[in-house]
Amino acid sequence: MQSLTSQEIRQRRSDFWTSKQHVNLPEASLIADKESTALFNVAGMQPLIPYLAGKEHPLGHRLFNIQKCVRTVDIDEVGDSSHLTFFEMMGNWSLGDYFKQEAIQWSYEFLVEKLNFDPRKLAVTVFEGNEDAPRDEIAFEAWKKAGLPEERISFLDAKNNRWSPGPVGPCGPDTEIYYRVGESEFPPAGSNVKTDEDNWLEIWNNVFMEFYRDEKGELTKLSQHNVDTGMGFERMCKVMQNKESVYETDLFTPFLEMLEKNTRLSYVDNKRRFRIIADHLRTSFMLINDGLTPSNLGAGYVLRMIIRRAYYNLFLLKKFSQSELDLFVSKALESFKGLRDFDELTIKRVLLAEIAQFEKTLANGEKNLNDFLNKLEAQGEKVL
Ligand code: ALA
Repeated sequence: MQSLTSQEIRQRRSDFWTSKQHVNLPEASLIADKESTALFNVAGMQPLIPYLAGKEHPLGHRLFNIQKCVRTVDIDEVGDSSHLTFFEMMGNWSLGDYFKQEAIQWSYEFLVEKLNFDPRKLAVTVFEGNEDAPRDEIAFEAWKKAGLPEERISFLDAKNNRWSPGPVGPCGPDTEIYYRVGESEFPPAGSNVKTDEDNWLEIWNNVFMEFYRDEKGELTKLSQHNVDTGMGFERMCKVMQNKESVYETDLFTPFLEMLEKNTRLSYVDNKRRFRIIADHLRTSFMLINDGLTPSNLGAGYVLRMIIRRAYYNLFLLKKFSQSELDLFVSKALESFKGLRDFDELTIKRVLLAEIAQFEKTLANGEKNLNDFLNKLEAQGEKVL
């Protein structure tokens, strides 16, 4: 497969959905609305919930965008090959317009014809059915018609192939698209997501939102059928650039090279720590850029923890002086400059103030610990 830069992937996708009469939906802020139960925007569909339920959208019935998202549930996994706290989700939506047939046909067309995916390396899952909704024969037939052999299509249960933004809200069965990442370049006969999950990486989810689940857990049919899709942009860059992890893509390499230069340490020897610093700083930049400040409550508290974790990991690599740190933050912003327009002055002010406060806390903590140890020693205890 021809390698594409992150910018080329963005462009091809924008051209493709525009050619299918989709309108670019301006992305929403990362900070969730006050009415939302979430702290952050966690999926491209989040701002579209009222429109999936039937409200008329001012931009029409076919939309697409790349939506910035923050999810912190897997924060402890950050540093492996794919987890991130900030990521971009590529979505396209039908609000009561096309449904399974077109969504599947176009997903296949985009991957195979526009991005040159080898169809022999694709597999999909569809919903096997339960008391809420029948086995998804329509999606199954649509995949076969698009060109996938039957042996690469698996029927899976509601745990895998139903999606909703939370316990309450619009939901429905989904079909997930996977790419071959196994040891052999091509899947052996009979390999699919059900038989051989570890050799397949999920790249794109198409949700067929037909239902609404209320507070009592009851399901009702929505007044319209919708398509809600999500494709992880960083994961797509990893696949298209044939890299071991999302961190080796062109989204992160300028930062990692800069970090190597400024610490005189190598990424290869410090992979996990380098990745945590890269992820957490990128997330902090994006959250501060959207107006958030660190605090002891809610979203502000999450930001505080993310900044402190980034700084703590950096501190363990190298102790920067104030002026070095100031310059380092400017370089870090520069290395992520393709992401969005950054308000550099504000980001630096907020970030450096939080780091200064954290250093005070660390210094106080150290002093308290020393006082405590001295007291113990004075009392005749053997301390260390
Ligand atoms: N909203 C769906 C997801 O986040 C597409 O997977």
